[in-house]
Amino acid sequence: MERIFTDHLGDWKRSCYCGEPRADGVGREMTLLGWVQSRRDHGGLIFVDLRDRTGIVQIVFNPEVNAPAHEKARQIRSEDVLAVRGLLTHRPPETVNASIPTGAVELVVREVRLLNASQVPPFPIEDETDANENTRLKYRYLDLRRPQSLSHLLLRYRMTKKIRDYLDGHGFIEVETPVLTKSTPEGARDYLVPSRIYPGKFYALPQSPQLFKQILMVGGLDRYFQIVRCFRDEDLRADRQPEFTQLDVEMSFVQPDDVIQVVEGMMALLFKELKGIALPAPFPRLSWEEAMSRYGTDKPDLRFGLELKDFSSCFGGSQVKVLSGAIERGGIVQGVAVPGAATLSRRELDELTAFVANYGAKGLAWIKLTDNEWQSPIAKFLSDKERGEILRLTGAKSGDIIFFVADEPKVVRESLGNLRLHLGERLGLIPQNDYSLVWVVDFPLLEYDAAEKRCVSVHHPFTAPVEEDLHLLEKEPLKVRSKAYDLVLNGVEIGGGSVRIHQPALQRQILGLLGIGADEAEAKFGFFLEALGFGAPPHGGIAFGIDRLAMLLSGARSIREVIAFPKSQRAVCLLTDAPSSVDPKQLKELGIKIE
Ligand code: AMO
Ligand code: AMP
Repeated sequence: MERIFTDHLGDWKRSCYCGEPRADGVGREMTLLGWVQSRRDHGGLIFVDLRDRTGIVQIVFNPEVNAPAHEKARQIRSEDVLAVRGLLTHRPPETVNASIPTGAVELVVREVRLLNASQVPPFPIEDETDANENTRLKYRYLDLRRPQSLSHLLLRYRMTKKIRDYLDGHGFIEVETPVLTKSTPEGARDYLVPSRIYPGKFYALPQSPQLFKQILMVGGLDRYFQIVRCFRDEDLRADRQPEFTQLDVEMSFVQPDDVIQVVEGMMALLFKELKGIALPAPFPRLSWEEAMSRYGTDKPDLRFGLELKDFSSCFGGSQVKVLSGAIERGGIVQGVAVPGAATLSRRELDELTAFVANYGAKGLAWIKLTDNEWQSPIAKFLSDKERGEILRLTGAKSGDIIFFVADEPKVVRESLGNLRLHLGERLGLIPQNDYSLVWVVDFPLLEYDAAEKRCVSVHHPFTAPVEEDLHLLEKEPLKVRSKAYDLVLNGVEIGGGSVRIHQPALQRQILGLLGIGADEAEAKFGFFLEALGFGAPPHGGIAFGIDRLAMLLSGARSIREVIAFPKSQRAVCLLTDAPSSVDPKQLKELGIKIE
């Protein structure tokens, strides 16, 4: 039967939050408002833990203090909403709860108002919940009552507040840019919004405010930032959402170091004030080349070792055909030594072989070094010279295992880069409370997309090439480096940006190299190219994933935990059920027919 409460709040005002009463308030009359965490009926006395966003306090209904209030309290269930008035008292010494801040006191209720009854919640409101994530997202308002969920939002709020204050202090102006706009090329699919007024035409939701922020520089704004929602229709992962929030920054008359300096100051402030950690600046930098060859990725996690080594010259012409064969076909061989892991079983090695197969590796060669032998499927083919090189390059010793993958560079790097992370986690080599920030710089401007059979931007088409490499643009475009920089925290790309092209001729040339002809350039970016032609200043900037940064700073496991109303891993809002069907009349107005 539905329980209905009919009390009203009336003129009652909160005298303090539930988490605040302390022993020094004993003897005071208080009015507390909140939700019922739990009720314990001890025959005579009824104890209720009352909760709000600040914590929990114990309240007591005693029939001898107020019989009608005690009677009312018998109806109370978890998550009901109450207002109580009473006297704060010391708890009897044997009932003091040292594990909560209000544990020394309790409120003896003299009056209660039952403001709203709650259905039985689908999961208990406590940090240790085993409710599955989809249930938590459907009832996100209940999930948000869990202190941990709230703490994530709170940290996120403090973070964006500090970012705004910091940038304001450095002369930046926050400017809003349109959400109904034109497609911008960040490389994902667009979310489209049909136009009613112009049937058959569409707005695109911005994947980032890239072109607008550059145009703001042309407009003379000089230092812009925005905390802004971006939309990308791409495959979802733990650190990706279809809509996410960027901190977007742009500055005029700068080189990469100027942007990097502003960012380092901001990150140092966030770590100091949110985590109490002093970050040593400047942050380390790795060239893209070095990141790829030593860690197999452009977002290396530097909290642990297991660096990759190159064995291509060692195994050229080797008797170990699985390795030398790949080199003959133009590939490479890389390896990684894992200290103390010679104990891995045959079954575990098969699992690791299956793991690297996910990244295209055709096999995983391994060598176990023990006191008196080299155990390995390839041991009998190894020459003494090769053995010497393996020891020299890896520094491996007895008890260690060495893995090798031979293939085209992309496969080798992805396989071993991911194997490195997998083993780091599995063997507990990653210190969980460490933070490692690194800039990755000197990216190539372009890469070859075999599927599309053309060059594509490594960042986006507005990234400036390094001046010394300009002469390579026509003949060897893949050798041109860019003025791009990514900031990586614990193996997650939290930010990326670049100095931009500010001259229309160079911008047209780069678009041409990307296979975007003059007509297409005009149709897609004509407004932008035109703007560059009216005295665009040299400029550059960066964008950070606010959700990712909040996730890492709060220790959350996914970005969904730091977003108030995230989409599920299947891009659904489980609370509202979006996306959903719409009224046929709406479709008709938009001139849309569903196939
Ligand atoms: P980029 O595409 O690298 O650069 O995006 C910047 C940062 O945004 C975050 N991010 C995401 N976070 C959550 N979910 C997603 N789907 C998602 N996609 C990206 C990442 C990333 O580092 N316009 C350029 C920036 C510039 O050049 O100034 C841009 O958007 O943390
Ligand atoms: P096989 O001769 O195919 O049985 O392979 C011998 C060993 O080499 C096995 O441990 C394979 O997993 C490994 N192997 C095969 N192909 C490759 C490769 N491309 N790179 C690294 N190891 C490989």
